[in-house]
Amino acid sequence: MSSAELDRNLVLDAVRVTEAAAIAAWGLAGRGDEKAADQAAVDAMRTALNTLDIDGEIVIGEGERDEAPMLYIGEKVGRGKGPAIDIALDPLEGTTLTAKAMANALAVMAWAPKGTLLNAPDTYMDKIACGPGFKDGIIDLDATPAENAAALAKAKGVKPSEITVCVLDRPRHAEIIASLRGLGARIYLITDGDVAGVMNTAEPETGVDLYIGQGGAPEGVLACAALKCVGGQFQGRLVFRNNDERARAERLGITDLGKKYSLHEIVRADAIFAATGVTSGALLDGVRFKDGFVHTHSLVLNSSSGTVREVRMKRAL
Ligand code: FBP
Repeated sequence: MSSAELDRNLVLDAVRVTEAAAIAAWGLAGRGDEKAADQAAVDAMRTALNTLDIDGEIVIGEGERDEAPMLYIGEKVGRGKGPAIDIALDPLEGTTLTAKAMANALAVMAWAPKGTLLNAPDTYMDKIACGPGFKDGIIDLDATPAENAAALAKAKGVKPSEITVCVLDRPRHAEIIASLRGLGARIYLITDGDVAGVMNTAEPETGVDLYIGQGGAPEGVLACAALKCVGGQFQGRLVFRNNDERARAERLGITDLGKKYSLHEIVRADAIFAATGVTSGALLDGVRFKDGFVHTHSLVLNSSSGTVREVRMKRAL
């Protein structure tokens, strides 16, 4: 199947799936129960996927079969006829954000032709990303955070103090933050949700120039699918805390465990990316129930045409 077919037939189907997950998750926002919110999103996403004429396989999902009853890696979804696609999904990106009704929770999913998405294990990944418009290689995971921020400042023709770097607020990032503050850069700390964190670099109105830090590898693949569509650079390297995590990667066919992946090695063909806001944030408005209608706000991106669609859905309850 060509990428153009993927585009024509599936773009709106993709956004219906993330809308369903976001609406279901929002029902549990602010209730302090991360698991219930995640489960609601998973159930809704799976039901929506299984109504579609796709021959889909989850390559980035809720975990391996023994730990995830639904949307596990390797699960087949869709009616089994139609295009054969790899699916990366996170029905609720920001479970804690949702449980606390905090900003920036999303339902996200990416589709690409079968065999073209990195089958990343559910481990951490070191990540660096910037938006479009810079020469290839301007950022490098092997350079220090300060060197990366300085290179970007030079390319933009601004002082390092005018560079804003998005970083997950975690103790493991103390050195990164110190290195960047030493340079005078501004740090935009987020408590969760690094798919949106990476995407912010490609959205000028967010003011974020660079994303640096360690987050989930699955979220890294999803963020790459988004950047593949809107432009930008990304590098990632899997991080293993123990032999069990190494074994997971090996089971997925990864042989070079220390490899530094570029965006185009993580997403190897054209992709469709869809995200719907669960709670409101810099990228998207959250779900709203008002006057007998449910309202959602989504983005659906398509790398083959370079299309960015912003979709507002309103449906009677
Ligand atoms: P969940 O929605 O699965 O809770 O993930 C939220 C998230 O913040 C991701 O965006 C990020 O990649 C990861 O968790 C970071 O992991 P940790 O919370 O262990 O630092």
